[in-house]
Formats: sequence, C-alpha cells, structure tokens
Amino acid sequence: MEVEVRENRLSGFEADVLVVGVPKHTEHVQNWKQIEEVFGGALADWIRSGDVPNGLKEMARVPAGSGKGFKRVLFAGLGNDKKLDADDLRNVFSAVGKELRKMKAESAAVWTESFATGDFGDADIAWAAAEGMGLGSYEFEGYKTGSNERQAEIRNVLLLSESDGESLMTAFRSGRIYADAVNEARDLVNTPGNMLTATAMADYAKELAEQYGFEIEVLGKAEMEELGMGALLAVNQGSVEEPRLIVLKYQGTDKWEDVVGLVGKGITFDTGGYSLKTKTGIVGMKGDMGGAAAVLGAMRIIGNLRPEKNVVAVIASTDNMISGSAFKPDDVITSLSGKTIEILNTDAEGRLVLADAVTYAKQSGADYLVDVATLTGGVITALGYDKTGALTNNEAFFETFLEAASETGEFVWRLPLTDRDKKRIRKSEVADLNNSPGGDGHMIFGGGFVGEFAGETPWIHLDIAGTSDASSAHDLGPKGGTGVMVRTLATLVDFMAEEGQLED
Ligand code: BES
Ligand code: ZN
Ligand code: ZN
Repeated sequence: MEVEVRENRLSGFEADVLVVGVPKHTEHVQNWKQIEEVFGGALADWIRSGDVPNGLKEMARVPAGSGKGFKRVLFAGLGNDKKLDADDLRNVFSAVGKELRKMKAESAAVWTESFATGDFGDADIAWAAAEGMGLGSYEFEGYKTGSNERQAEIRNVLLLSESDGESLMTAFRSGRIYADAVNEARDLVNTPGNMLTATAMADYAKELAEQYGFEIEVLGKAEMEELGMGALLAVNQGSVEEPRLIVLKYQGTDKWEDVVGLVGKGITFDTGGYSLKTKTGIVGMKGDMGGAAAVLGAMRIIGNLRPEKNVVAVIASTDNMISGSAFKPDDVITSLSGKTIEILNTDAEGRLVLADAVTYAKQSGADYLVDVATLTGGVITALGYDKTGALTNNEAFFETFLEAASETGEFVWRLPLTDRDKKRIRKSEVADLNNSPGGDGHMIFGGGFVGEFAGETPWIHLDIAGTSDASSAHDLGPKGGTGVMVRTLATLVDFMAEEGQLED
C-alpha cells in the first residue's frame, strides 16, 4: 500500500473515496466549511437529520457529485470528540477499513484534520488510520472453489495534512506494518491443522528469517531426542507428524546480551490425546497455535522496525494426537530441564511443550521471558473472551508490559500465583511436578507450571485461550483468528529498547 501526503485541501487530488471524520462538535474542525462547500450547504441538514451520523463508529457514504477528484465521501462518526481516545480512533478507522472494502475502493484520501479534534497529533492519526484500516479490512481467503472474484483492496492512501510529510508517512507505514503482522498471525490461526503442520510452521518461519535476516534454528525429532526434550516429545508421541522446535534470533545491539525471550505454544491441533476432548470441544482446536502466531507476528514487526534490543523467539510445535504410541495419563516423563513430570491429563499438553521451549529459550540466553499460549479453558471461565490472562514473577517487567498493552489497547488482567498454588503443581508421589493439579484455578495451574521452568528469570505468562480466536466479528476484525498480542509483544520489545536495562 502506497501512502502520500498532500496539502490540506479538498480539491486537487484523485481518490475513489474521501474519508471525513464527523465529531459531535463539527465547529472544532477548523476548516469544516471546506467539506460543507462540497455539498453546497446540505451537509449541516444531513447531520441534523441523522442521515450523516456522528455517533462513534457510525458510518455513512454519500456520492460526491460530479466534477470532484473523489467519487464518494465516507463519513465516519467520532462521537463526543472530547472523549475520543486512542482505542476509539483505532476502532473508527477499523470500521472505515471494513466499509472501504465493501465499497470496493482502491484509493482513499483521509482528511486528517477532521479526525484531529481530540488530543491527537497528525502522526497519531496517520498511525491509527493505517493500523485500523489494515485490521478492519482483513478477511481470510479460505478454500471455497468457484468464487474467483478479485477482492478490492486499498492500494493508495492520501493523507491530507499540513504536517511534515516524512514523519506522517513514517507513522503510517509503522501502523501498516503492525496491521500486516497481525493479519499474518490471523491467517496462521485460521489455517486448518492438515495444512499448518509443525513442519509447515517451521517453513513459514524460515521464510520470515530469510526476509528479515534472523538467525534460525529448527530442531526435529532426532535433535530433540538427543537433547532430552522429553516433554515436547511426549506430546508428539502419538502423531505421524514430526514435531518442530523453531528458534529465531534477532540481534539489535552489538552484543548478545539483555535478551528478551518470546515463547509460543504451537499446537497445530489439540485432540486432547487420551484425555480426549468432547466432539464439540474439539472443533476449533486448529487455533491452538495462537501463541506461536503471536510470536511470529511480533517478530515480523521487529524485523521490519529493527529496535535496539535482542530477541530470541522459541516456538514449540506439534499436534496432540491419539494412537498406540501416544502418551497417556500416569506416564512419567523427563523434561529438557531434567525435571520429571507425572502426566495426569494429556489435554494439559500446552504447558508440557512450553516447559521445554522455555528451558531452551533460557539456554539460548533469554534474560526475560514472555510465554504466550492458548493454554486453558479456565481463563475463559475467569475473564471471558475479551481479556487475556496473565501471571508474572516480576513487578517491574510486568509494569512495562502493561504500558505496552495499554498503548495497543489489548486488555490484559493479571491473576495471582501463590505458594499454595505452586505446592499443588509440585505435588506428585512419583515425579517433581504434575501437569494437572485440579479442576479449580486451571489458568493459574497451567501458567504456574510454565513458571516452574522460568525459575528466577523475569517472566510473564499470557493465556490467550479466550482472546485468540473470535466467535463473531469484533471492533478490529472478523470472526476467527484475532492476532492478539502481536502488537503488544512488539511494543513491549520497543519499550524495553527505549528503557535500556530494567531494574529488578
Ligand atoms: N488448548 C486447550 C485450551 C483451550 C481451550 C484453548 C479452549 C482454546 C479454547 C488446552 O490444551 C487444554 O485442553 N486445557 C485444559 C487443561 C486441563 C485439562 C487441565 C483446559 O483448560 O480445560
Ligand atoms: Zn489440551
Ligand atoms: Zn491445547
């Protein structure tokens, strides 16, 4: 998508659609009469009658009439502009993106000034426009035969503004990079398990590495056996598909130090194993690699924007299947860390593959750890489908993380992890840990189990089981994979680069 900045006038350019923000108080837009002139005085009446609505995220399209450089005008309601915040602005542009797609527009001119009634600078608006429109216009192509109608796509965006063109275009391009990375993650989540196998995910990561010059390491079954990655191997044991441990390294400073480890659960399909899921519970389990998708998406942003920070991404990928060779309850396995684990539930497989991935991330030099996983149904019971659950062992690290989440508007809520919880994770007559301490507090036990392998390393656990796959359309996109945490993880790394080393 190409972006250009033009002077703040509603003439002298060509575009399919002119996009205009409509605040409750149009008098706050300095040059509002410019747009009134386009419609020869009718606009005020249209707003009064509600035909052009000004409520938040309400949209109206109107033909521009002949003799204009633009064919149609899309009015985007902003509500009370005094209350408009960054999340609202992103959501408005997402709705604009959806609408432009329906209008089959290929080019759009955004009248920046009409969105500038809140506390936003033009660069904020440019970023929100790119990010919002990119996220809102996402659709998964799917595999239907017969419909080869080419989808319209916005190719050119003009920002009408008097601000410095370079900084506006930089902000727009960053917003676009963020949106594209989220949309890539959404594609991964939406891809079925027969197509996105662990091997296919590793191939995807290889392409990413080539594109951005990451160092890449892909471990197969033989290497895992040699290293003693018993937890990841146990989950893979019933499958005909080989597992993959995918490691990407991005070096943003001279020395490989102060490294952030991003660890993703990449279960390409979760049957539950012998602790089999129900026939309704199993549907949708192609999305059990949402954590891996989040990490890969964040790496795409990092590769593009190149922050001064070192990052190691570790993804543990396999499916969780049943066969004569599958692992089963009562088995005792030995993880890469040396810790032994009593299996009580083969459906609690995510924490097992993460155990080895976290250990590997530490061995690769990670000084900070964030693991991301569709780990438990428990997080949905606790927080619903719109909040990511978190655990941590480090206040300062978590504070920085929350700042990043607030910047991106991704809601995260922390749950406690107490000594009593840890005791229950460590309770087993035959091993160091058990993988399913009980039906209460699932999310805490799942994340807490991963924490056993993080040890003293500053660590944040993110359970995205509720937020990774939307059951219906939402503010920033359609039903299906959401790409949650892609933007927050990338922003976290960016904030850490700005902060330098964190104090413990
Ligand atoms: N992949 C599931 C968690 C999940 C549930 C993701 C719903 C997305 C939507 C995970 O592997 C799982 O089965 N967790 C169990 C753990 C339990 C058996 C201890 C759960 O939460 O029920
Ligand atoms: Zn499971
Ligand atoms: Zn799972």
